Amino acid sequence: MKEIGGYFELQLRKGEHYHKGAVQLNTARNCLEYILRAKKYKKIYIPYLNSEVIWEPIKKLGIECEFYSVDFKIDPIFDKKLAGDEVFLYSDIYGIKCNTVEKLVRRFGKQLIVDNTHAFYSRPYEGIDTIYSPRKFFGLPDGAYLYTDTLLDEVFGKDNAIPHMTHLMKRIEYGNAGAAYQDYLDYCASLIDQPIKRMSNLANALLANIDYENLKQRQISNFKYLHSVLGKDNIYEFDNFPEDTCPLSYMFYSEDPDLRKKLIDNKIFVSTYWKATLDLVQKDSAEYRIVNYLLPLPCDHRYNEEDMKRIIDVIYS
Ligand SMILES: Cc1ncc(COP(=O)(O)O)c(C=O)c1O
Repeated sequence: MKEIGGYFELQLRKGEHYHKGAVQLNTARNCLEYILRAKKYKKIYIPYLNSEVIWEPIKKLGIECEFYSVDFKIDPIFDKKLAGDEVFLYSDIYGIKCNTVEKLVRRFGKQLIVDNTHAFYSRPYEGIDTIYSPRKFFGLPDGAYLYTDTLLDEVFGKDNAIPHMTHLMKRIEYGNAGAAYQDYLDYCASLIDQPIKRMSNLANALLANIDYENLKQRQISNFKYLHSVLGKDNIYEFDNFPEDTCPLSYMFYSEDPDLRKKLIDNKIFVSTYWKATLDLVQKDSAEYRIVNYLLPLPCDHRYNEEDMKRIIDVIYS
């Protein structure tokens, strides 16, 4: 029975999810587990250049796995034909590879899994299994979306968001990332080896609270601003993606060994994706250069042109 009255809960806008038709789960890696189980694939091809957390479900299910390389444009180097029980996973890394996703949809059809973890705003292709991890775009305790045409006949428990809220709340309360960095690391560690769960009630409510169009436009315009200034010095050449593509970050290539440190010293936090890849690839590979030298400059919706100017000033200082 619906409760009426009593004390107030946290006030959130009751809007809509951006991904309305998707299965709502706890993490993107578990969306991958869901697909692998539902489609009963025997072998998966995955890129060396990816988060090691996507290996979790593959190892857990004991599915055969083969790595493939990408070139410096982050396009797959892969000429094999897939057998009927094999699948090819491609991640739209940094949210700048939607043109490649389109080509792979044409090439592999339903035997493609698109990992749009870095491309939250990209819509899925009809009939193509597609994964989203909105935590890479917004502060959330849990939550992932999966578009698929094959549902598992199983009832999954619901995630509990409360233990996953500490770093999110402390960053607001104390006003800086350092105050809760250890909480954030503990939180990331707590996501390892979680079973498939449904998205928590709180993540569900928080995702319905977001003003998506506004935030998307802000992120795109920050990306474009950085590109308008840094583009001439950026040897990473972006694809000619559509105007309304919303990248995760602005990818700036620099082999200056001190630049990442200089940015971090100036409180511009530039992540390194993904150190585990470095153990698998040669030093002269595209992956090695991408992980070490392609800096993801923050350009998300939390920031404005002033903030982008500060990043630029630090780079040219
Ligand atoms: C490209 C990519 N795919 C998938 C994942 C897994 O996302 P989740 O943490 O929601 O399982 C990550 C996480 O870092 C990622 O970067």
